[in-house]
Amino acid sequence: MSKLIALIAGDGIGPEVVFQATRLLDWYRNKRGYDLDLWHLDLGADRFLRDGTTYPKEVADRIEHEASAVLLGAIGDPRVPSLDYARDILFGLRFGLDLYANIRPVRALADRLVPLKDRCAKDVNFVVFRENTEGIYVNIGGQFKRGTVDEVAINEDINTRKGVERIIVAAFEYAKASGHNVVHMADKSNAMRHAHELWQRVFAEVATRYPGIAGKHVYVDALCFYLVQDPTPFKVIVTNNLFGDIVTDLGAALQGGLGMAGSANVHASVPGRVAMFEPVHGSAPPLAGKDLANPFAAFLTVGMLLDHLGYKGEEARIETAIGEALEARQCTRDVGGELGTRAAADALLARIAG
Ligand code: NAD
Ligand code: IPM
Ligand code: MN
Repeated sequence: MSKLIALIAGDGIGPEVVFQATRLLDWYRNKRGYDLDLWHLDLGADRFLRDGTTYPKEVADRIEHEASAVLLGAIGDPRVPSLDYARDILFGLRFGLDLYANIRPVRALADRLVPLKDRCAKDVNFVVFRENTEGIYVNIGGQFKRGTVDEVAINEDINTRKGVERIIVAAFEYAKASGHNVVHMADKSNAMRHAHELWQRVFAEVATRYPGIAGKHVYVDALCFYLVQDPTPFKVIVTNNLFGDIVTDLGAALQGGLGMAGSANVHASVPGRVAMFEPVHGSAPPLAGKDLANPFAAFLTVGMLLDHLGYKGEEARIETAIGEALEARQCTRDVGGELGTRAAADALLARIAG
């Protein structure tokens, strides 16, 4: 049976990189015979500004029950400063589908892109497991006496036993399957005593279920320091929603920029459930419409999507092709080339086809 992939191009550079990603998917359909159906969804700032639609229930239902995967470009447009519509779409997918594991590989694909002194690509190779359905992202809170000198603003940080345990288990399962002997958990338990004491306790407990894999704790501020100083000890990092967001932008810088970072949002414990795939980058409004955006993050994301759907080896194949393209400088300006989005994508597609 064919697999339905919902495409949400979104805003800014989203449509440009998703268009190129679609060409890659089309190549897999037409030349490799992969049984994929593409379903283009008109969602994002333009649609919201046109008719107020954000993330309709009929679309959410069809994605949940009929789609195998969602590929999303980026959401965020300066014409809509509140970004409520963006949260509706993004969190509608992540929370609505209970995609609790945001898996963000941090792998550098060319030595020259690693910004650290005396380090090369092989030194930057780890995966961040970001909790994706809880934390400070749940939108519980409010404002009181807004606009007065007495105003109060609150965002609650939600950490449940179930939520913490399942993302930590996902990280250990990945480490086990990949042959890694260490998982780092990053928190801020020295300051956030209640919530992160839970993380500490659950982490220690889950680690005992995985003999041969060391569970190491690191404060998230120190993690940022170590990642820049020497990223080599890190293989698998598990952390909460907010810290995972921040640490993976730092990770993207180690990879050569946000144009090089892909990600998957999955419900890790139930195979076959619909998952959502998106580059780590945002809509980069200043680059939009100028043929400047790097399409490689979207291509790496397609690789994760294909592997997830059972087309094993495609993530590695796409990574290798991108590594070669970088070597040949067949890439966009942000990664040291001179090509535009389309030409960089053309060259990469030719390389994959060849
Ligand atoms: P951003 O990721 O859009 O841009 C940060 C920097 O990276 C900029 O210098 C940008 O030019 C560069 N960059 C990003 N993607 C690139 C690419 N493919 N090629 C070359 N350079 C690239 O982050 P921002 O500026 O903080 O956010 C812009 C908007 O995107 C905001 O509305 C934000 O909320 C939203 N956003 C959405 C998502 C998402 O939908 N998943 C993710 C992050 C940010
Ligand atoms: C990301 C983004 C989002 C997040 C924003 C747009 C809400 O930064 O996907 O990394 O914080 O998760
Ligand atoms: Mn982010």
